[in-house]
Order: sequence, then structure tokens, then C-alpha cells
Amino acid sequence: MKILIIGDIVGRLGRDILKERLQELISEYNVDIVIANGENAAGGNGLTRKVADELFEMGIAALTMGNHVWDQKEILKFIDEEVRIVRPANYLEETPGRGSIVLNFKNSKIGIINLQGITFMPCNRNPFFVALEEVEKLRVETNIILVDFHAEATSEKIAMGYFLDGKVSCVFGTHTHVQTADEKILQNGTAYITDVGMTGPSDSILGIDKELIIKRFTSSVPVRFEVAKKGPAQINAIVISVNELTGKCYSIERINKIYS
Ligand SMILES: [Fe+2]
Ligand SMILES: [Fe+2]
Repeated sequence: MKILIIGDIVGRLGRDILKERLQELISEYNVDIVIANGENAAGGNGLTRKVADELFEMGIAALTMGNHVWDQKEILKFIDEEVRIVRPANYLEETPGRGSIVLNFKNSKIGIINLQGITFMPCNRNPFFVALEEVEKLRVETNIILVDFHAEATSEKIAMGYFLDGKVSCVFGTHTHVQTADEKILQNGTAYITDVGMTGPSDSILGIDKELIIKRFTSSVPVRFEVAKKGPAQINAIVISVNELTGKCYSIERINKIYS
């Protein structure tokens, strides 16, 4: 089974480029199923019902989230009912939504776990211990398990990769919006990459209007961030090949396309 995993979709440019190019990518890489990180899909901040539906209609089967999950307050109205959205599992108990889900795909099941880092990020439950709990839960249903580790520090992400090696199919990092070139298959069959990258405005700083960010670094007056609205767009993603019975991965390929 080939799974396409798309890095943080940012704003309208991110959604539009997917609308235009996703089918082409699916054919080019012979992909069976697509998932994406959607934490910045609505104007750079969070997810609305309308934006989530737009992404599902394009053929994205599930959306993982991260620290921006609550930016659009309306998500609180639908996250409990929406079984295709996963928010970090290591948030405190009784947080709305789900930290892991199981997707039915043809004759297989795909487990997806979302976790948030605790290094340089708000304090939450330890993602390593929560990862083990969630893996144990999903293992009852399937060997195919994907982990979106939404974290800042490269070391924390790499540690999670090795920690879960052989226990899950893939550990992929999100959140930094910068794709890393360290994709590999770990010794026990887990595909790993520190960050999948960002899908959205290419001529930007992490998706935000570059002039505003430069102003922030060169002025003492606070600047309100806005997503870059024009210019070329990029799609950052990975494609993994998974053995459906064992859940082990035998290839991981990085995609970094810029469309002008
Ligand atoms: Fe993000
Ligand atoms: Fe994030």
C-alpha cells in the first residue's frame, strides 16, 4: 500500500495548489490513500468545517493537527463528531476530539496517531508514554500505524522515530514548515522523516508574508502575521510503501514541488 502524507497545508494557496495538483501526484506516485496535516489550512490558523470539507472532497482521507488546532473556535462544535480529524493525543484528559483514529481502507485498516512535542512547546503529557499507550490500543485493530509527531526540536522528533521503530509503520514530523532531507527506513521497518514540510506559499517565511516577518525581526513594534496570498505555491509531502500484513515500511520518498 502506498500512502501520501502531505505537510502542513497553509491557507488558500495551499488548498488551491492541492486542488490543482493532488490528482496528478496520486497518479504519478501510484498512491492508494492520502492524509495531510491541516492545522494551518484555514487562513493559516486552524480548521473550519468548510475548509475541512474542501480538503476531504479533494480526496484527503484524514487530517492531523497540532498546536493550531483550536485557532478557529468553531472546530469545538464539530471535532467530536468528525472521525477523520486527529488532534494531539498527549493533550490533557477530557480535551475534545480524538488523539488517534482508525481509517477503513478497502480490506485494510490504517491507524493514525497525532502527538505534540514538549520541547519549546506548551506543556502537555509526555508524548513518548502516550505514544506507547495509543500504539497498544491501535495494534488490536491493525499493524499499519502512522504517527504525526508535531514538534519543534529535531532531537525530540528523531528520538520518537527510534523509540517507535518496529512498533509503527511511519513516524513523520510536522510543525516547522521546513522539509528535512533525512528520510529513511529505520532498522526495524519504520519509515521516518523529521519534517514533511509545508504545502502553501513558497515565496514566504513558513507560509507567512515575508515582509511582515522581516518587519518583526527589524522592529520593536509588534506585527500582525498574515498568510502570503500570492506567488508560487509548493507541495511538500512524502510517499511511503507499507506491507499491509506486517505494517512495516519498505520505502519512503520525499516530495518537494514548487509550481510557479
Ligand atoms: Fe503548521
Ligand atoms: Fe504547528
